[in-house]
Amino acid sequence: MVSAETRATVSSSGVTDAPNLPKAAPRPVSASRVTLAHLMTAADTNPYGNVHGGVLMKLADDVAGLAAARHCGGPAVTVAIEMALLRPVHVADLVHAAAHVTWTGRTSMEVQVDIGAQRWNETDQSHPVAVAHVVYVALDADARPLPVPPLVLETDDDRRDHVEAQLRAETRALHRVKRDQLREEPA
Ligand SMILES: CC(C)(COP(=O)(O)OP(=O)(O)OC[C@H]1O[C@@H](n2cnc3c(N)ncnc32)[C@H](O)[C@@H]1OP(=O)(O)O)[C@@H](O)C(=O)NCCC(=O)NCCS
Repeated sequence: MVSAETRATVSSSGVTDAPNLPKAAPRPVSASRVTLAHLMTAADTNPYGNVHGGVLMKLADDVAGLAAARHCGGPAVTVAIEMALLRPVHVADLVHAAAHVTWTGRTSMEVQVDIGAQRWNETDQSHPVAVAHVVYVALDADARPLPVPPLVLETDDDRRDHVEAQLRAETRALHRVKRDQLREEPA
C-alpha cells in the first residue's frame, strides 16, 4: 500500500492527486468486509427499555469506518449517514453489524451496514433490526480529500448493491446542489 504522504500532490481543484505515481490498485468488495458485535446493556436504553437509535448509529459508524479504511488503506472521515430502524432492540440482545463498501466516487465511498440482533435466549436466529448507508471521504496527511481505489464487483450481490448505491449517490448529489443554491440566496 502506498502511504498518503508518498501519493500526495495537490491538484488545482484541491483534491490530492498523484499524476506521476501508480494509481491505487482496484480492490474487491470482499476485502472491505468486517463485522462488529455488541451486547446491549441497560446503559444503552431509553426510558422505555428500547436501545437508543444513537447507540446503533455509533456501532454502524464504527464498523463502516473500518470497512472504508480497509478499502482506501488510510484514514477516512464520515460525511453522510442514513439509517432505517426496522425492529426494536432490547437489553441482553447480541447485536452484530456487518459492513462492506458498495460504491466509490473519486474521493468518497459508500459503506452499507446490515445490523441484526440475536435475542438472549436464541442461539441460531438473527433478526434484521437496522440498515445504514454511510459515506466516507479518504484524506491525505494534510486532511485533504484523496482519490480512493476503484471497487471490483465480484458477485451478483455486489452488483445489485452497487446499482442501488449509485441511485443513492445521485440523490445525495442533488441534495448538495439544492443546499448550495439555498446558501447563495440572500438572507
Ligand atoms: C471531508 C471534507 C474534508 C471534504 O471537504 P469538501 O469541501 O466537502 O470536499 P469536496 O467538496 O471536494 O468533496 C469531497 C468528496 O466528498 C463528497 N461529499 C462531501 N460531502 C458529502 C455529503 N454530505 N454527502 C455525500 N458526499 C459528500 C463529495 O461528493 C466528494 O466526492 P467525490 O470526490 O467522490 O466526487 C469535509 O467535508 C470535512 O472535513 N467534513 C467533516 C468530516 C468529519 O469531521 N466527520 C466526522 C468525524 S469522522
